[in-house]
Formats: sequence, structure tokens, C-alpha cells
Amino acid sequence: MLYKNLSINEEGHLLFAGHDTVALAKQFGTPAMLIDEDRIRTRCRTYMDAMARYLPAGSRPLYASKALSIKRLYEIMKEEGMGIDVVSPGELYTAVKAGYPMENAFFHGNSKTDFDIRFAIEHGIGWFVCDNADELDAIDAIAGEKGICQKLLLRLSPGIDPHTHEKISTGRVDCKFGVAIETGQAEELILRAAGKKNVALCGYHCHIGSQIFDHVPFCDAAIIMLKFMAEMERKHGIHADILNLGGGMAVPYTAADGSIDYAANIAAIGRLLGEQCAALGMEKPVILMEPGRSIVADAGITLYDVVSIKEIPGFKNFVAVDGGMSDNPRYALYQAEYTILPASRMNDEADFLCTVAGRCCESGDLIQEDVMLPKMRRGDLLAVLTTGAYNYSMASNYNRIPRPPVVMVNKDDVYVAVRRETLDDLMNCE
Ligand code: LLP
Repeated sequence: MLYKNLSINEEGHLLFAGHDTVALAKQFGTPAMLIDEDRIRTRCRTYMDAMARYLPAGSRPLYASKALSIKRLYEIMKEEGMGIDVVSPGELYTAVKAGYPMENAFFHGNSKTDFDIRFAIEHGIGWFVCDNADELDAIDAIAGEKGICQKLLLRLSPGIDPHTHEKISTGRVDCKFGVAIETGQAEELILRAAGKKNVALCGYHCHIGSQIFDHVPFCDAAIIMLKFMAEMERKHGIHADILNLGGGMAVPYTAADGSIDYAANIAAIGRLLGEQCAALGMEKPVILMEPGRSIVADAGITLYDVVSIKEIPGFKNFVAVDGGMSDNPRYALYQAEYTILPASRMNDEADFLCTVAGRCCESGDLIQEDVMLPKMRRGDLLAVLTTGAYNYSMASNYNRIPRPPVVMVNKDDVYVAVRRETLDDLMNCE
């Protein structure tokens, strides 16, 4: 099976972290998102340990909380000693409500309003990752108003194409995030920051994209960033201690993806850092990384009930489930690949080729095409794997469909982190 926390019992039911998914579906209803808490903690420790071991002292991971932003996750990140990245007052507020120490939080985003900046400063945000000159001026002004000196990193774009899906590739020169090194605008922004009274420029950030399988694109980005850091120091005497290499390490969604060795990737980045800094005659900066997907994606699965089966002779077969793009828009948006398992009939022969479709009134509302399953019947249970990242956080109430619950599963404990939305919840703002 794709992951170690999956197995099958004698009744042919899928077990997730040792729990019978058929029983969980009965207890919590469907659709339901299940999250394996131990797996999240283990992955946090993989990053923490490898970064402590292979990178300069002070290097650490920040959980990119856009992947799954719920109170319980911020509590877990606090307990694991992880930093966090937040991108909106909503994420920031959720972290505050979870009691997360905001001095370890980094505030991202390419379009921070004055309200956002003020809100973050008032809640004691540790760092801004400043995206552009307008934002820099606004942070400086608001920090001045509040009588503080705000620490920040500048977001630069190194001009790297990591060859991932276009919509999740973010390090290219013509992308909306950050300022480009290539055009000279990064240098201008740094000089502008250096001239401000109420901000402290501590380092640089880049994020090249998402679902990247090996260390090579990260090393390519690091080479460009380090060269640039050395140049700024030489030309302008502007020293920076921190290099944030962003997030983006992949997770396997299907067996064809193989496995990813996060510690080995971090070790390779560490070696590259040593070589480059020696060649450039510079001190090694503290390295930050911002994994989102690789902290939570493969810790999550979604359970759906099969509602109807439609065979169109000579064309295709549809299996419709009781959720869809309202809880997982990733196939509709990116043609994202998923592995789907017949959770209630794992030992039956998978000889039925079908498209798994959602319940929304939209033909593009599919979870996956060309899936091999046993011939499905109404009431069968399906499990879609690897839904921990960018599913719940991208869920909507399209078609006025309530969001599913988030159920945390441990070896000896199961609890609801976020309850299912009710129809009355849908009326809350009216
Ligand atoms: N840091 C920054 C500045 C980012 O923009 C992102 C993701 C991350 C870290 C975390 O990247 P990760 O480790 O999760 O790959 N909705 C898309 C993914 C968008 C990612 C946006 N930024 C998806 O469902 O695939």
C-alpha cells in the first residue's frame, strides 16, 4: 500500500492508523477527513532533526499553514517546536486562538492591506516576509506608529522554473510573488529597506514552487540567492543572516511517484551550502524552510459513501460520491492525481474502470478519472488518499454543501478537531 499507516483487516476493510475506516465512517458520517496525528508529528521531527543536523545552527522548519489551517494543527506545531507561516489575518487569528507563540510566526502574502499589517503587529507577529516596495513602506509606517522596529525578510524571485504544475510554480521572474533578482528590482528593494528606520532587514526568502521531488531545484535556487547575498554585502555592506528557501517538497500521491527522502534532500542542501559559501567567502546563513504539503498531505484521507453508479455503454462509468469539489477542488483545478481505495471491499477484485465524480452541479466536479475499483454499489465506502494538504483548506460551501469534519486519529485515540458544518452554520452570516 502507498503508506505504512494503511492496512486491511479480515473483513476486507481498510484500516487507517490501525482504525477500521468502515467503523469510523459509521461513527462520524461521510464525507469525513481523517488525519493521522502521529504521522504529522513524525514528519515534523524528520524536518527538525535533519535541519538541526545538516544545516547551520538556528536553521529550522516553519509549517506553511495554508496547507491545513485549523486550531489543532497550530497546537501540534507549538508542541513540536515548529515555526509557522501564515498568509492572512484568518490564519494568524487561528494560530493566536490556539495559543501559538506568535514570535515564531512569519507573515507572508503579496497583497497585505494596512489592516493586515496592523493586525499582525498588534498580535506580536515575529516576522514579515515582505513582498514588494508598497508593502515595505506600509510596514515601516505602521511599525513607526506602534513604536517598534519590525523584523522582516524580503521575498525575492530567483527566476527558477521547478517544472511542476504551472499554477503551483512560483519562483519565476514573471510571477506575482516577490521581486526579481534578474531585473535589478530586488537590489532596489533591499536598498529601500536598508534606508527605513522602523524595519530590520534580516534576510531573504524565495519559494520556487510546490510538489518538487528532489533537492536539485532547491540547490539551484540557493546558488542564485547566496550569490546575490554575497553581492549585496560586497557592494552595499548589507549583511543578512537568514536565507529562507520556502516550501515545496513533494509527497507521493500514487505508487508511480516513488518515495521522497526528506532528510537526504536537506543533507544535500547542507552540502551545497557549505561548498557555495566557501567559494563565495561568506558566512553560512541560517536556513529556514516552509514545508506545508509534506507535513500534512500524506497524513490525511477522505472517506466518501458511494451514492450512485452510472454505466454509459461504449463511453465510461461514473461512481458518484457524497462529496466532491466542495471538499476537494484539486482535480478540477490542477488535474491532481489521487489514489482511491474501495475502503469497505479491499479484498474484492478491482476490475471496474470508472471516473469518481462529486455531487456538485458542475461536470468538472470529478475526484479522479480512470480509477480501477471493484464494481461499486450504493453504500460502498471509498477512501481518497493524500488529502491532508490543500483539501480542507481549499474547501468551500459551493452548492451550499456543509464542510466535512476533520477527525484526528491516533494509535489509541480518535477525536474531532473540527466538527461537521451544519445547515444552520450556513446561515450564520445572513
Ligand atoms: N511557502 C510559500 C511562500 C508558499 O507559497 C507555499 C505554498 C509554501 C511555503 C508551502 O508549499 P508546500 O510545501 O505545501 O508545497 N493549492 C496548491 C498548492 C499551492 C501552494 C502555494 N504556496 C495545491 O493544492 O497543490
